[in-house]
Amino acid sequence: MKTLIAANWKMFKTWEEGVITAREILVGTHKDLPEDREVLIIPPFTLLKGVGEILLSQKNYSLGGQNFYPAKEGAFTGEISPVQLLDLGCSYALVGHSERRHILGEKSDFLASKVKAGLEAGLKIIFCIGETLEERKAGKIKEVLTSQLEEGLKEVEKNLAPELLTIAYEPVWAIGTGEVAGEEDILEAHALIRDWLKNRFASGDKMRILYGGSVKPDNAAKILSLDNVNGVLVGGASLKAESFNQIILA
Ligand code: 13P
Repeated sequence: MKTLIAANWKMFKTWEEGVITAREILVGTHKDLPEDREVLIIPPFTLLKGVGEILLSQKNYSLGGQNFYPAKEGAFTGEISPVQLLDLGCSYALVGHSERRHILGEKSDFLASKVKAGLEAGLKIIFCIGETLEERKAGKIKEVLTSQLEEGLKEVEKNLAPELLTIAYEPVWAIGTGEVAGEEDILEAHALIRDWLKNRFASGDKMRILYGGSVKPDNAAKILSLDNVNGVLVGGASLKAESFNQIILA
């Protein structure tokens, strides 16, 4: 399994800014990118075409969508379908990001239908989970992560090919706060997720688990060296090629 270094650009960047950053990322990393690393850019929809044109001819650089609606097509104003993401060159899509759960109010049944529809369409799914600070303080980490996994992935078949599903552990309190989870916290959560995946899927030992939440150039190498960490999902530090390139090559 290749280590996945993913950039979630969220709702940032105009066309020009995005295209320039994508070019700087490619130019700054493609010569030194280790064979066992994959770079994934997840820009806003408006930039999928522009970033795709820059990255997709390169081996080990991929494109992903931040969101989609669980239908092939239809009267869903403002939404985008998995087929439309694939059409623009996306091979991945996020489901269950904390901002979609907490700001946009997406609930577990809806997330489960998105996972199912995305996989059926042929997208690789990065399913995001993570506890809030209150849940952590109440000692509920295991309970929260397990129920997010069980509910969100309830429609997925046991024999799913491992490259089609990646879990991203993003503790809500570490997203955009500069407060990165400690090594012990990451080890504990990732071990719990690994056990759950092994019990639930035939190839759960081969599915990737990413860490996300204030990943920066100065902590990326350490995080990537931890057991059961198979990549990172980066927000703020992925917006500038200067910092994201250091994480890609960390
Ligand atoms: P930050 O790296 O800005 O904390 O964001 C993490 C994130 O939400 C990635 O999906």
